[in-house]
Amino acid sequence: MVEHHSIHETCFIHENSYVDSPVVIGRGTRIWHFCHVMSNVRIGEQCVLGQNVFVQSTVRIGNHVHIQNNVSVYEGVTLEDHAFCGPSAVFTNVVNPRCEFPRKNEYQVTRVGRGATIGANATVVCGHTLGEHCFIAAGAVVTHDVPPFALVAGVPGRIVGWMSRYGRRLHFDSDGIARCNATGDVYRKSASGAVDLIESSPQGSCHEHASLACR
Ligand SMILES: CC(C)(COP(=O)(O)OP(=O)(O)OC[C@H]1O[C@@H](n2cnc3c(N)ncnc32)[C@H](O)[C@@H]1OP(=O)(O)O)[C@@H](O)C(=O)NCCC(=O)NCCS
Repeated sequence: MVEHHSIHETCFIHENSYVDSPVVIGRGTRIWHFCHVMSNVRIGEQCVLGQNVFVQSTVRIGNHVHIQNNVSVYEGVTLEDHAFCGPSAVFTNVVNPRCEFPRKNEYQVTRVGRGATIGANATVVCGHTLGEHCFIAAGAVVTHDVPPFALVAGVPGRIVGWMSRYGRRLHFDSDGIARCNATGDVYRKSASGAVDLIESSPQGSCHEHASLACR
């Protein structure tokens, strides 16, 4: 719960949006036209909520998160730092909704990890974790947990490849090593199939176009 209503003085909230009280909204966050942010929401610094974004009570949104037009972020969803939600991406919070049998106490948790991307019009069936820097292709339907750096596409969503933090496809050699061709960052795929960033080049950490701010 949020105890003190606090909207940083540097925030921009369009006059046609509603922000209920109490909420906490950090420095530099911009909320564009026709949004509704319910009470007890925390939104970090330097976030962008595009047109017609709805954020339901108790949702937590980290820093530098971008939510494109027409996205509803329902209770139970957490967006970590640098998460990106493409236009009209869909979250859910009840697996088996029935109008006759309300399930408000059965909301499932969905965690979107740091740096993850959800493509336009993708649907995330609730109760799953989207690992750090994973990439959900446009129109995919996520029905399982997604490992870090995985590229998931299709209906139902399947892992079809791997993406660097920067958003370039990773091609692993016979030693399980791949290099991002934009930043030079090095990744390793272990025997279990998990992918880790093992060497971060100075360019990869601080690339000015990567929107991965040095911290
Ligand atoms: C998934 C994605 C990153 C792939 O990009 P890419 O690596 O350049 O891939 P390509 O365009 O070369 O396509 C490779 C194959 O994947 C298929 N593919 C591409 N995007 C796909 C998608 N969203 N779902 C299913 N298949 C897809 C292509 O049809 C192609 O298949 P083919 O080889 O049989 O012809 C990209 O297509 C995508 O979905 N990006 C998200 C865009 C978005 O939502 N942006 C939101 C902000 S505007």
